[in-house]
Amino acid sequence: MSECYVLTDARLAPMPVPDGQGYACDGVVVVEREQIAFAGAAKDLPDRFAQMPEQSLEGCLVTPGLIDCHTHLVYAGSRAREFEMRQTGASYEEIMNAGGGIFSTVEATRAATDEELLSGALQRLDRLIAEGVTTVEIKSGYGLDRETELTVLRTARALEQARPISIKTTFLGAHAYPKDTTADEYLKDICLPAMEVAAKEGLVDTVDGFCETVGFNPAQMKRVFDRACELGLPVKIHAEQLSDQGGAALAAGYKALSADHLEYIGDDGIAAMADADMVAVLLPGAFYALKETRKPPVQKLRDANVPIALATDSNPGSSPMTSLLLIMNMGATLFGLTPRECLEGVTINAAKALGLADRGKLEAGMRADLAVWDFNDPAELSYRIGDAPLKMRIFGGEIC
Ligand code: NIG
Ligand code: FE
Repeated sequence: MSECYVLTDARLAPMPVPDGQGYACDGVVVVEREQIAFAGAAKDLPDRFAQMPEQSLEGCLVTPGLIDCHTHLVYAGSRAREFEMRQTGASYEEIMNAGGGIFSTVEATRAATDEELLSGALQRLDRLIAEGVTTVEIKSGYGLDRETELTVLRTARALEQARPISIKTTFLGAHAYPKDTTADEYLKDICLPAMEVAAKEGLVDTVDGFCETVGFNPAQMKRVFDRACELGLPVKIHAEQLSDQGGAALAAGYKALSADHLEYIGDDGIAAMADADMVAVLLPGAFYALKETRKPPVQKLRDANVPIALATDSNPGSSPMTSLLLIMNMGATLFGLTPRECLEGVTINAAKALGLADRGKLEAGMRADLAVWDFNDPAELSYRIGDAPLKMRIFGGEIC
């Protein structure tokens, strides 16, 4: 298609429209090179676009390209055996304390070749792309030694060359620590130096950590965040997934972009997140797979005006899945989010959770990352279960 083209007869969502439906009918999107030049009602289309090539979308829905803002997409191996153990009564923590869990994925990831890591990640990435995803965040954290952490981040970066996708990388060296050392020794000798090298090589966009009884305590997380700040990197946190460690409030002190999971967050944590303008990234895939019964406090997050994002948390242990549309359905059915909240959770709020101000909205000046769906009602996106009726995907203005 040409450098500038006009998509007509579209429905646009999410839009801040006064009728409260959350979408605009008879909408138009003008794509000019990599950006949206106009998005809105046909009657408001500026004259200068009137002669541009047009394509009618015949009433179909257009949303921003979807954003999966929390994944662990690069790893090797499978944890199906552990799934079987959990089915017969073992808990996630018990399996991890016995040397399984994250550690079994670390072993498989260290043993994999670069090609194996890349091809496994591509398979998972292709499933996200098939659902209209245009930006994916990918964490390290299955290396736990310097070389493998760097390899995982390089693999994540390489995905951007292999597919039409934006990748944002997160250093999650503080995911777990090897059994033959202590958390503090691991931070000093491996994790913090690896973060430094990764940052110098330009492999890191954000720094994350797993603040949990089976991960790192708040004092240890503080060391991770202090070093990230010295390196000028923004932070986020896996917090209050299995217990309330005060991780979200700690991260708020560092103006973190987001706190993720949050089933066990208390009122103080929510207030701190609101003050720091953080995003709550909810991960219903992990909630579901771990058969968690405590839900994140959605109404309290709403009351405090904390923006809510949703993500797959795609990983081999607690969320072995690659469907952001299924996550939208789970956000609605398991956590009680409205369809509009689910859509905002994988667009505008997911962009905010990654610190990205150039995407996630249908607005002039935003990146032209778009998904066109084979229906017209945005509620279909979270209503359907495991269905991906994507009609067209546009990445940086290119149809692909
Ligand atoms: O986001 N919470 C820690 N990390 C992952 C799980 C990792 C694993 O079990 O391999 C999560 O749920
Ligand atoms: Fe995670």
